[in-house]
Amino acid sequence: MPGAIHAEGLVKTFGDVRALDGVDLDVAEGTVLGLLGPNGAGKTTAVRVLTTLLRPDAGRAVVAGLDVVRQPDEVRRSIGLSGQFAAVDEYLTGRENLRMVGRLYQLRGRQAKARAGELLERFHLADAADRPARTYSGGMRRRLDLAAALVVSPPVMFMDEPTTGLDPRNRQQMWEVIEELVAAGTTLLLTTQYLEEADRLAHDICVIDHGRVIARGSSDELKARTGGERVEVVVHDRAMTGTAAEVMTGFMAGGASGGGATVEQHTRRITVPVSGGAKLLAEVIRELDARGIEIDDIGLRRPTLDDVFLWLTGHAAQDAGAAEDAGAARDAGPAAEERDGR
Ligand SMILES: Nc1ncnc2c1ncn2[C@@H]1O[C@H](COP(=O)(O)OP(=O)(O)OP(=O)(O)O)[C@@H](O)[C@H]1O
Ligand SMILES: [Mg+2]
Repeated sequence: MPGAIHAEGLVKTFGDVRALDGVDLDVAEGTVLGLLGPNGAGKTTAVRVLTTLLRPDAGRAVVAGLDVVRQPDEVRRSIGLSGQFAAVDEYLTGRENLRMVGRLYQLRGRQAKARAGELLERFHLADAADRPARTYSGGMRRRLDLAAALVVSPPVMFMDEPTTGLDPRNRQQMWEVIEELVAAGTTLLLTTQYLEEADRLAHDICVIDHGRVIARGSSDELKARTGGERVEVVVHDRAMTGTAAEVMTGFMAGGASGGGATVEQHTRRITVPVSGGAKLLAEVIRELDARGIEIDDIGLRRPTLDDVFLWLTGHAAQDAGAAEDAGAARDAGPAAEERDGR
């Protein structure tokens, strides 16, 4: 049975750019799909198509049982959307913004007022509730925008980078609000560049790059696919990162179980997937020492979603332009076509 959000073969082009290049998605009712991808991957375009704001060039999508192209008005009544850029009326106060949304959704005056009050409390905006939104900080606008999306607890919600620009405390609170929503039965599609966020909130993760789904699965499944542990070394001398990467590549877990060495020049950090644990660590230290490479730090750790992302795309999630940083990872990783294990 198709999920609460179901899309097949979505294509959307802007001139020469194929923002969506045949995207399939399925989000089971009451679950969270994390749509993960770097800048320009197509996340916002996907959200805009699924929320009826953009018409796809090809493919079809059904949200809450309704076709987004043929039944846009019905779809809009069944969903909540919090866009990437806060859509608040600058001249209205926080409270007025929320009451207006309530009225738009046909809540009665009293209900709209009560709901606005509740949400202002919950999003820590009560003190600023009666100030015009144009006096709010970026994080406050973001919270007001999310509050607006929650005025009528719709069955299906879309959140485009809900925590971008929030400080750690507010991000934490937002995660709690999202978890409550989902516990109450809301189906959610959430886009994010924060792997940590997808890891915490999403039942399933879909990684997109250049308008295509390049991997999907639960966070554990994706981590398992990139192989076992990582050895991470910080070399003392930046000029030695290349040699150190070469040495460490020699210790890599065999075959297709992982990518290559990833090199982060600015932090002088080199990471390779390995199997062999602590014993191997001693060997790596000896070998680096034999080559005259001084190390500042070395450790063994489990793969993170960041590793998954690097392995899949050859570049970091927040660093789409810096593919060359991934250097060896590119060469050693599997070909793009092989990565989407479908
Ligand atoms: N209205 C538009 N006109 C022209 N090009 C567009 C338009 N909207 C998106 N694009 C292009 O489509 C591609 C995907 O953009 P999209 O906004 O979906 O990416 P994103 O994954 O949301 O990125 P970000 O993380 O930066 O928000 C980009 O190359 C972008 O420049
Ligand atoms: Mg976007």
